[in-house]
Amino acid sequence: MGNRVCDALGIEYPVIQGAMAWTSMAPLVGAVSAAGGLGVLGSGFMPKEIILGQMAEVRKMTDKPFAANLFIDPTPMLEVGVSAILEGKPAVAYIDSLNLLDYDFTKKHYDMFHEAGIKVVAKINYLEDALVAAKAGADVIITKGFEGGGHVTKVSARVLLAEVVENLPDVPVVASGGIATPRQAAGLTVQGADGIEMGTAFMATQECPIHPNCKDAVVDAIDRDIVACGQSTGEPSWQIRNGLADEMLQLEADLPWSEAADKIREMSMGSLRIASLEGDREKGAVLAGQVAGLIHDIPPVADRIVKFCAEWEELLKKQYSLF
Ligand SMILES: Cc1cc2nc3c(=O)[nH]c(=O)nc-3n(C[C@H](O)[C@H](O)[C@H](O)COP(=O)(O)O)c2cc1C
Repeated sequence: MGNRVCDALGIEYPVIQGAMAWTSMAPLVGAVSAAGGLGVLGSGFMPKEIILGQMAEVRKMTDKPFAANLFIDPTPMLEVGVSAILEGKPAVAYIDSLNLLDYDFTKKHYDMFHEAGIKVVAKINYLEDALVAAKAGADVIITKGFEGGGHVTKVSARVLLAEVVENLPDVPVVASGGIATPRQAAGLTVQGADGIEMGTAFMATQECPIHPNCKDAVVDAIDRDIVACGQSTGEPSWQIRNGLADEMLQLEADLPWSEAADKIREMSMGSLRIASLEGDREKGAVLAGQVAGLIHDIPPVADRIVKFCAEWEELLKKQYSLF
């Protein structure tokens, strides 16, 4: 029957590993792509030399397609990302955005990648952005729901997927946000998804190069441990509740948000690094989505792709009936 996401991206399994800043580095990306999914470098905030170095590391592990991430908001960071991707030429540019998409700006960038032979995966948070991305020529659209790890968005994964599937039947769609089990993936197939993206679930894998304490924090977390920190800054992110998160939430409860925002920005500087690299799960920011409550182990990457897809397909083959 074929799968539209696999066909569009040249991969074997319709599983995308979400870009994760300073987390989805070469060892994870290479392992995901080698196993037949799409590995995505969390390169959105990296200097160009590091992005190019990471791409070289991935290529030592596999010759299969992988992607690099950038944010298509008009910032100097975007220019760094565009230049690194055009030079390093991964098979796919994986494009996120913090603000609503502008059609002309989006089309200009997608065209640059397409002319260089690079596919475009657009990760969107609203139907409006999906329509812009599709018109601008995105090869695949990821619908990222509000519960997904990273920066907090507004629309639920279930509603967003349904909206995009209804409005864009001809575009391959990947559901994202809150996914960790084959049973969820099977349900999403019925809802019209061609594939799935997982971020938090790939943090808890053997190959992910973050500190083991962070992986344990994901496994130990339950659903209500995941809190949205930094609402006052306008760019909140999901974090596992710990000393740092409690302090941030208290500041937002006690202070006018304009004051809290400055303090939180200061506290956030380097906080991801303190958790991910140094392993301090109390003082560092352990970013993870609400789905952490469904993640109970730290398997090899291949289990989250090959074994996962075998179970997913098995579930779809079962005959379900309402009556
Ligand atoms: C630790 C962490 C860092 C993230 N950093 C980025 C990023 O730099 N760029 C991006 O596009 N998405 C980022 N995300 C979002 C993921 O790519 C993905 O869309 C999300 O994790 C999917 O939801 P899930 O965690 O429920 O699977 C991040 C997510 C996590 C958990």
